[in-house]
Amino acid sequence: MTDHNGSQPQDQRLLIRGLHVAPAGKHEAEILQGIDLSIGQGEVHAIMGPNGSGKTTLAYALMGHPAYDVTGGEVLWKGRDVLALSPDKRARLGMFLAFQYPTAIPGLSVASFIRSALNAKLQGVDKTADVDPTDPMKGGISMRDFRNRLREKMARLRMDEAFATRYVNEGFSGGEKKRLEMLQMAVLEPEMAILDETDSGLDIDALRIVAEGVNAMLNPNLGVLLITHYQRLLNYIQPDVVHVLAQGRIVRSGGKDLAVRLEEEGYGPILREAGLETNVSDEALAVPKAPGEDEGGELAAARPTAGVAG
Ligand SMILES: Nc1ncnc2c1ncn2[C@@H]1O[C@H](COP(=O)(O)OP(=O)(O)O)[C@@H](O)[C@H]1O
Ligand SMILES: [Mg+2]
Repeated sequence: MTDHNGSQPQDQRLLIRGLHVAPAGKHEAEILQGIDLSIGQGEVHAIMGPNGSGKTTLAYALMGHPAYDVTGGEVLWKGRDVLALSPDKRARLGMFLAFQYPTAIPGLSVASFIRSALNAKLQGVDKTADVDPTDPMKGGISMRDFRNRLREKMARLRMDEAFATRYVNEGFSGGEKKRLEMLQMAVLEPEMAILDETDSGLDIDALRIVAEGVNAMLNPNLGVLLITHYQRLLNYIQPDVVHVLAQGRIVRSGGKDLAVRLEEEGYGPILREAGLETNVSDEALAVPKAPGEDEGGELAAARPTAGVAG
């Protein structure tokens, strides 16, 4: 008899309901004005939106960043009130949050950094004395098992093993920072990953690393909330749902075709259809081209399956 879960129970989804977010201490300057999202494991949701629409605010609020206050609404994951949990507890519940990546830690190797992150996660959300992540007999991972796991993930991400001995983010290029992010994600095996791919400082290499990394990790237990300025990234990471965020609200949700339409028309028409006043030109609302996009599709290498016509 085949074993399958049927439709996913509500409490296995990331549920965002009526989320309002303002800058910390500046509640009159509300940025997010009621966001509703429901993301299941095994689903990839993309959020696109013009600059200043609140994309990064959403990612930061979900991560528990202290620069933002949640002024209304709720976020549930595995039936838990995420907003009541500290960022590290969110991670221990299987959420993967880009916020936790330190800028640079001289003296701390990539391997040690990822091992501490994994050990922290293994503690579980409710610490008990029975679980000691530093002790393999108490649910921790032994040095040997960790090395094997790291090696396996690095091979899957086609990364050079020497990378594990480098110091965290010290002298890292944009692409190497993305590699660290993807490697950490691979080792931690999250069930809900929230990635904010900003348009600044993302070169073609970094974009390719993200696309390859996410595709290598997609599995029925992983939900992805991919925030991106680049429609083109969605040619390489296939979204199940695309949401358009504008002026702090989700004004449209649809399939992949919505992202294609955005690339063709920019945000202008969809915003007007949603009844939003746009006092900026359609040019300003064009969907930015990814760096190198006009240079012959270098991202093609990141496609999950072959079949790019020459
Ligand atoms: N900490 C903050 N304090 C005040 N305003 C902020 C803060 N963070 C973001 N904003 C404002 O909120 C809006 C949305 O910003 P952001 O979430 O970064 O948009 P996006 O990522 O979509 O470009 C912008 O107008 C921005 O200036
Ligand atoms: Mg942003």
